[in-house]
Order: sequence, then C-alpha cells, then structure tokens
Amino acid sequence: MRFTPAFWFRFWTNSFCLLLLAGSTWSLWPDFGAFPQMEAWSMILGYLSFVLIGVTLLIGPIKSWLPASWQSSCLTLRRDIGIWAGLTGVLHVLLVLVLFQGTPRLMILHDTNAPKADGWLGLFLLASDDGNPLPLPNWSMTGVANYIGLAAFCILLSLWLTSSRFAEKRLGGASWKRLHLFNPALFLLVIFHALIYIHSIKGEPHSFADFLWLGGVVLLLRLIGFFTTVARRQRRQTTSL
Ligand code: HEM
Repeated sequence: MRFTPAFWFRFWTNSFCLLLLAGSTWSLWPDFGAFPQMEAWSMILGYLSFVLIGVTLLIGPIKSWLPASWQSSCLTLRRDIGIWAGLTGVLHVLLVLVLFQGTPRLMILHDTNAPKADGWLGLFLLASDDGNPLPLPNWSMTGVANYIGLAAFCILLSLWLTSSRFAEKRLGGASWKRLHLFNPALFLLVIFHALIYIHSIKGEPHSFADFLWLGGVVLLLRLIGFFTTVARRQRRQTTSL
C-alpha cells in the first residue's frame, strides 16, 4: 500500500463520513425512543442513506463551479459518499427483511387486512387461498411503497457494486456512466417510498419536511448548475465566433 496524497484524501473522507454517520445516529436516536431497537436502526439507516444519496447529487453542480484542479477530488468524494449511501441502504433493507421475517412492532395504518404471504414475502405478496393457488401482489399503500423500495434497492445495489475503478473499466466508460445516470431516479424513488411510510406509520418521528427539504435543495442546485453550464457554453461560443 502506498501512502500517496490520494490515499490520505480517501482516508480522511471515509473517516469523516463514519464520524458524521455515528454523530447523526446519536442525535437522531432519542426521536426514535418509542420504537424497538431494530425498527429504530432500520429507519435511521434508511434516512441516512437518503441524505447521502442527496449529497452525491449535489456534488455534480458544485463541481462545475470549482476550478478544474478540484474535479478529480470531487469525483473521488462522490464515489466514497456513494459507497456509504449503498452500505446504509443495504443495511436498511437487510434489517427490514429480518424484522418482517419475525413480528415487526411497527403500527402500519394504510396496509391491507387480507392475510399476507409468510415472513418477509408478506411485504410484497398476499397469501394464496384455495380459489387461487398463486400469491397475489399486495397493492395496498404500503405494498406499493415496498415495490418502490424494491426498485430503489435494485438501482442502489447496481450502483454500489459498480462504484470502483475496476467495475468502471470492466463495464466501459459509456455504459458505466449510463448506469450511474440512474442516481436521480433512485433519489426520487426513495423520496416516494419514505413519504408513503411516513404517512403510514403511527408514531413516525420523521415528517414530510425531513425529506422534502433535501429534495428541494437538490432540485434547485441542479437547475442552477444546468443553467450556468448552458450560459457558460453560450458565452464560449459567442467569444469564439
Ligand atoms: C426491498 C426494498 C425495501 C423495503 C422492503 C423497505 C421497507 C421499508 C419499511 C418497512 C420502512 C418502514 C420503517 C422501517 O422499518 O424502516 C421503510 C422506511 C424507509 N425506507 Fe425503506 N425499504 C426498502 C428499500 C429502501 C431503500 C433502498 C432505501 C434508501 C436507499 C430506503 C429508505 C427508506 C427511508 C428513508 C424510510 C423512512 C425512514 C424514516 O422513518 O425516516 N428503503 N422502508
């Protein structure tokens, strides 16, 4: 291992992310006091993953306003933050699956009363009955939130597993870029997934505002980034004429 400046940059970025995640968990924990520990962990990890995905989306426009010499550090920063977003999101999903394999103690308001498939499959499917041997999809509000979560999970996992230089080389620059352009869609899916759950869980400590503020900031900065890039390009074209 070589202790190059790039190594130390990544070391400090990851240490800072770890400290920030530990500090945020510590400050959020009292709000989740009404929930059993595993439920609280799953919600906090889901929220932290959402915030980190949002931060990766902010780095793009911010990068375009910084000097060219900062570009590669910004890309490394975005990659490392994305890896932490993947880790926290995957842990959220694993905890949810473990929770629903047992007896979750979440009080869910907009769920169906129809009997569900056994264990974690009940998140997505209703139990089959004699008239219909195949399990049916669960189209209740929380069933839909789970399908949205599943779509988000598929995107998150594919971005997470390809967040290395090795994967970028194997996929080829263009395909890798096309895959990672799904990041804004992932962010939107997570917002919808979370908003439905916030609306559905009794005693939910988070509110719509906890999700919409970051959605608004991401939208605003990305719009400003888009228009400043267009304006810069037009200025360059008129000076070269
Ligand atoms: C198969 C995929 C998924 C399922 C079945 C699922 C299920 C759930 C469940 C049951 C809740 C309610 C509370 C809890 O136990 O946490 C929840 C909330 C949430 N999930 Fe997911 N989820 C999935 C994927 C994801 C992904 C990929 C993310 C983020 C990247 C995510 C982010 C969130 C957020 C932010 C909340 C709201 C937490 C809060 O109260 O603040 N979920 N999800």
